[in-house]
Amino acid sequence: MIAPHGGTLVNCVVEGDARTALLAKAEGLAKITLNSREASDLEMIATGAMSPLNGFMGADDYNGVCDNMHLANGVAWPLPVVLSPKDDESATAGDEVALVGEDGTVYGVMTVSDAYQPDKAAELTKCYQGDAEHPASDYLNSIGDTYVGGSIEVANLPTYEKHNEFRLTPAMTRVAFAEKGWDKIVAFQTRNPIHRAHEYLTKVAIEQVDGLLIHPLVGDTKADDIPSDVRMACYHALMAKYYPLDRTMLAVYPQAMRYGGPREAILHAVCRQNYGCTHIIIGRDHAGVGSYYGTFDAQDIFKQFAEGEILIETLLFEHAFYCKLTGGMASTKSSPASNEDKIFLSGTKVREMLSEGIRPPAEFTRPEVADILIESYATPTTA
Ligand code: ADX
Repeated sequence: MIAPHGGTLVNCVVEGDARTALLAKAEGLAKITLNSREASDLEMIATGAMSPLNGFMGADDYNGVCDNMHLANGVAWPLPVVLSPKDDESATAGDEVALVGEDGTVYGVMTVSDAYQPDKAAELTKCYQGDAEHPASDYLNSIGDTYVGGSIEVANLPTYEKHNEFRLTPAMTRVAFAEKGWDKIVAFQTRNPIHRAHEYLTKVAIEQVDGLLIHPLVGDTKADDIPSDVRMACYHALMAKYYPLDRTMLAVYPQAMRYGGPREAILHAVCRQNYGCTHIIIGRDHAGVGSYYGTFDAQDIFKQFAEGEILIETLLFEHAFYCKLTGGMASTKSSPASNEDKIFLSGTKVREMLSEGIRPPAEFTRPEVADILIESYATPTTA
């Protein structure tokens, strides 16, 4: 089985008497309230999905990550994972603080290593190549001007009403892969329904490995992204008919979307390594938004790391589409098709069709998926 990123699978979840004692201690501590991204980061850290992180980043790690994509200990890490106290909250080095959800749930305790003032403008440009219009700008503006770092111990993970049987921790996916006898596992990160192009990437990938982990991101996304419960319905419908179930597994990935393009591709990769995946699919404009990143920047960035720094391997894809010339799915690498031969629809066009109750062509989206999306446009839901 592939080693976790940084060597050891972190586990910050305490159980039994230690958990009871931790919750008792938390009661007497000052608190820091976690917003939903911070809570999903806490879940990722505590379950080892963000190994080797064992807490929120202190200033040395934060600066190393922003400046050169490495933690202070030299391990590759592409994006900040930070905690910002709310207006009436504070903490200083050496404090223990209770970590609490917006609904009042006590998650656990953090031992504060340092509190520091980040240069958020530099974070926006260095990490996201962003400006005021980039989603990261909104997020950075929504949080405070101080970050607090430190290791965490967690008594209660965030809880959810939906998809609980698909909430597998890295330890659980690793056991599942071993039980299935899969040595080579490819992860498919997605924040969208699986359209035919996505399906094509996963099917080409599966030819080369033992198993496919469909691993949709279900943490916070932009308001105009499709809610995760609608997407889950699409994944189930698709898997039931079009995927080999002995080679395909579905689990959710509780991280918030950063829209960080190339740097987020690295984040998606090292976290999937922690889940036990040996490969990850990176297609065109992975984790992109607007026109902030070059189409293949998220593929090229992996070359910036020395051999052995990131163990998970990438399976790279050029732009995929249905090709009328060759009569099947193809990519710009495998088909000589001209633009007129390609069935390609913009996101805006697809949204327009779905909201008018029109199925996009079957070469673009399977009818089973189209029908779920049409229904969701007719009856908006949240997730
Ligand atoms: S992402 O934010 O998770 O990257 P999305 O769910 O659309 O967005 O994409 C999932 C993966 O499929 C990413 O690796 C992306 O690069 C790839 N991808 C999406 N559409 C295409 C396409 N038409 N051709 C090639 N790769 C694609």
